[in-house]
Amino acid sequence: MSYSPFSKFAVGAAVLAKSGKIYTGCNIENSSFGMTICAERCAIFKAVSEGEKEILAVAIFSPNEDDCYPCGACRQVMYEFQGEEEISVITVNKSNLNIRKLSDFLPFGFKI
Ligand code: THU
Repeated sequence: MSYSPFSKFAVGAAVLAKSGKIYTGCNIENSSFGMTICAERCAIFKAVSEGEKEILAVAIFSPNEDDCYPCGACRQVMYEFQGEEEISVITVNKSNLNIRKLSDFLPFGFKI
């Protein structure tokens, strides 16, 4: 479902929430480039807008040779919805799957 006519870089994400439900998202670009939203935040915001407060895992897929790592903004948004269990970040490319923890991507997240 990625809408990426400008970058032609398609990304999909799936979020596993503590409730057991999975929420999907895709990157959605805009002619005003700054309005673009990443697949990860799209999926996380869908989850939170449905009442989820805690996320267990985020999977990120892009149909390329290399992993698509979450951008800084998405890392911080994941951190906001991390509960007692550390979030697993699963990156999936054309041929590999890697499972890491959010702290591998964001060692010192900000939280009030
Ligand atoms: N993008 C994502 O959806 N997730 C990422 O983790 C990195 C970047 C999108 C944003 C934009 O639509 C395109 O990839 C190129 O930056």
